[in-house]
Amino acid sequence: MRIGNLNLEKNVLCAPLAGFSNRPFRVLAIKAGAAMTFTEMISSEGIIRLQSKTLAMMEFKKDEQPIGIQLFGANPESMEKAAEITAKNFKPDLIDINLGCPVKKVVRKNGGAAILKDLKLTEQIIKATINGAGEIPVTIKIRTGWNDQSPVFLDVGRIAEDAGVSAITLHARSKVKGFSGQAHWESIRELKKSVSIPVIGNGDIKTPEDAMRMLNETGCDAIMIGRAVMNNPFIFKDINSFLESGKLPEPPTIEEKIDLSLTHAKLMIEEFGPERGLKMMRRYLTWYIKGFPGVSKLRPLLSKVETYDDIGNIFDDYLGGTKT
Ligand SMILES: Cc1cc2nc3c(=O)[nH]c(=O)nc-3n(C[C@H](O)[C@H](O)[C@H](O)COP(=O)(O)O)c2cc1C
Repeated sequence: MRIGNLNLEKNVLCAPLAGFSNRPFRVLAIKAGAAMTFTEMISSEGIIRLQSKTLAMMEFKKDEQPIGIQLFGANPESMEKAAEITAKNFKPDLIDINLGCPVKKVVRKNGGAAILKDLKLTEQIIKATINGAGEIPVTIKIRTGWNDQSPVFLDVGRIAEDAGVSAITLHARSKVKGFSGQAHWESIRELKKSVSIPVIGNGDIKTPEDAMRMLNETGCDAIMIGRAVMNNPFIFKDINSFLESGKLPEPPTIEEKIDLSLTHAKLMIEEFGPERGLKMMRRYLTWYIKGFPGVSKLRPLLSKVETYDDIGNIFDDYLGGTKT
């Protein structure tokens, strides 16, 4: 699939997830077969003030690519400057605009989904970001609208296409819906019919079967997976295989899940240092061992790990015969 000048080999994308989309998460997603990854949403105001914490969130290496840096903000001028800084200093494969975030902290400042209440502002933000981004393709990620009574995704689709946006991701829920109910995939189908730029469908894909169904029912060009990746990066491998052959690969073995745990822990330590990295890692460990025989004995041990070797030793003991 092509997004502007970017050529993607596959069409299953890893969603931006604040609090999750860091370097380790993205490396694992790409390794498992994600078509591309994203940073979490990054404040345009933080970028233009060159805040070091903000800029650190924008760094990436080759093994996380293709990657999009996602920007949010309600001021077109700031978005233009932020896109310019992003393009010049970080050179991501694309810049994505967050027009769908429902979080209070963001919408209170009229960012994220709040922008969808004002189509003029939506247009200004899109045009400004494209100006700032130069050669780098700009995509947008939207919800259906602020509420279900006044959907705007078709209007935003038209505005985006006219302005030169390279692809649109639609999380098929309104802002007020948050994450409740079912995503309304019919909206994705309607958007796909009404624009000629690529449409990326998003919302409630939990299994390879869901992925196939979304592509078939909506005709979208690609799909994006969010929550289902958090505890299972292998989902990209499963979905790719299912889409290509209609078959699921063998489920990962215990040894493969242990391998994933150790690789993830190593990346976390490299990225965040041993103390913070391992603290952050604990919840992943308890997710990755789900379904292991004797998991109730393993979980309390892994939720206390303090060193990388602790993890290795716990799994060695486990594999050495204390499984049950
Ligand atoms: C914890 C969490 C953080 C998220 N952070 C972002 C974000 O930074 N930017 C964004 O565009 N969407 C964000 N989202 C929305 C997801 O990218 C995605 O659109 C949504 O979860 C629906 O897809 P899913 O059903 O596959 O999870 C976030 C969602 C969750 C659950």
